[in-house]
Amino acid sequence: MSYCQCQGIENTFDRRLAEAQLQRERRRGPQRTTLMLVEALRAQGVAGRTLLDIGGGVGAVQRLLLESGAAGVTGIDASSAYLEAARQEARQRGFEPRVRYRHGNFVELAPDIDPADIVTLDRVICCYDDMKGLVTASASKARGVYGVVFPRSAWWTRLGVRLLNLSQRIKGSTFRMFAHSTEDVESLLRAQGLSRIYRRTRGIWQVAVFTRAAGAA
Ligand SMILES: C[S@@+](CC[C@H](N)C(=O)[O-])C[C@H]1O[C@@H](n2cnc3c(N)ncnc32)[C@H](O)[C@@H]1O
Repeated sequence: MSYCQCQGIENTFDRRLAEAQLQRERRRGPQRTTLMLVEALRAQGVAGRTLLDIGGGVGAVQRLLLESGAAGVTGIDASSAYLEAARQEARQRGFEPRVRYRHGNFVELAPDIDPADIVTLDRVICCYDDMKGLVTASASKARGVYGVVFPRSAWWTRLGVRLLNLSQRIKGSTFRMFAHSTEDVESLLRAQGLSRIYRRTRGIWQVAVFTRAAGAA
């Protein structure tokens, strides 16, 4: 990730936004697409499995899978404020013994990160410029299941992202969003031995789950 995008993430996903997102989740529950992802993962079996949650933000996927009996979670996030919010929330709910956190760009940390039974990226691919590096490195860590939420490929999502980036530029922010093509993302996952078993859309988002055939690397 470029220095600018890294700095943009730190500045955008800051303490104020982390606190606002936690408050929103306490009032209204997690995002609908997060719940769709978690339901699809539960259908594959979560109890006793390990989770690697990349860009987990304030930690909704982690908490929901821990409540479903996941054995342990590694959370990696490029935003120190979001990571700290996830850590505090895990502590308050008594999950701390089952969670580990690392701050930083997952693509750079990847060589040092253990594989997990389940890997998730909930609304993360759209925040990262090197989609190929992120998807390939994260897929290589998924022993069984890979779950992802990212924008649908459509002219109106690409237009929305351009408008958002224009407003970021006007505000002087270096953070940019990306509307990566579905086929580009899925072909990288296929090359890593993962096959799609679930896909639903909601608004601008698509929720997809992939599994690795038994015995595949
Ligand atoms: C839009 S937020 C989504 C947070 C959460 N998953 C959710 O759905 O509420 C994107 C998150 O991805 C993180 N992120 C983006 N690129 C990353 C990378 N290369 N490595 C680690 N975290 C990353 C950001 O710091 C941020 O917390």
